[in-house]
Amino acid sequence: MFILLNSIYFTSSAAVTPSTAHLLDIKDSLGELDRESKLTANDTVFDFLNPPPTAILKGNDGRLILAQGITFPAVINLHTAFAVGFMNPCALNTPHTHPRATEFFYLIEGEVQTGLYQENGANFTTHQLRAGMATVFPLGGIHFQYNLSCKKATFIAAFNSEDPGVQTTAVSLFRHLPVDVIVASLAGKLTRPQVVALQKSILEALDNPSQGLAECRKRCNI
Ligand SMILES: *[C@@H]1O[C@H](CO)[C@@H](O)[C@H](O)[C@H]1NC(C)=O
Ligand SMILES: *[C@@H]1O[C@H](CO)[C@@H](O)[C@H](O)[C@H]1NC(C)=O
Ligand SMILES: *[C@@H]1O[C@H](CO)[C@@H](O)[C@H](O)[C@H]1NC(C)=O
Repeated sequence: MFILLNSIYFTSSAAVTPSTAHLLDIKDSLGELDRESKLTANDTVFDFLNPPPTAILKGNDGRLILAQGITFPAVINLHTAFAVGFMNPCALNTPHTHPRATEFFYLIEGEVQTGLYQENGANFTTHQLRAGMATVFPLGGIHFQYNLSCKKATFIAAFNSEDPGVQTTAVSLFRHLPVDVIVASLAGKLTRPQVVALQKSILEALDNPSQGLAECRKRCNI
């Protein structure tokens, strides 16, 4: 029996992305026992080193693996999700918010600097985390992580929603809002052509973690 279980769980092929029909069936349960009766063995194990393709957010300088409702059926209706992040030297996980979850951030390996600006009227706060240290980013707060060292960093993050969502702040503001609204919001300090040029240069959300500061990259010979 033990050998059989091993052969089921420790497979080398990429995990299969759950079908939409299966996900909807689990979500539409009359109670916990009904929900559990619909979960397969595969639904309740998530392999962060061999995840389904839809769980991988690949950036220029790292990757995030996110086990949430649509990639890990076991958490559907349970209001939780979990991520593992791999950051290359100098990588920046650019400023972003989670619209539906608070994040508990724990560093496994390396060192990172974190930053948080919660809302209007708050003070910006920052921390230097070593492996073994954690911090919290409350729901809605703009936050980032930066690996300023020449070594890789690895973190885990827990969320209190199975669908935490992410909004990359610069991308949202400069790429997805109307140019005239951005110009007016900046009190006319940037011209329309400057904002248009800025929009073109802004990285898309899925580029996270992105390349970090030029200074760090030079220091680390990248
Ligand atoms: C479970 O996942 C493995 C690979 O991840 C796959 O080969 C197998 O077919 C899956 N089983 C079911 C019942 O979906
Ligand atoms: C911000 O910092 C100032 C100065 O230390 C302090 O007086 C104030 O209470 C802080 N505000 C918040 C919201 O923490
Ligand atoms: C990023 O990794 C390097 C090399 O491991 C480390 O020295 C550095 O402190 C890390 N990041 C930050 C923000 O410090």
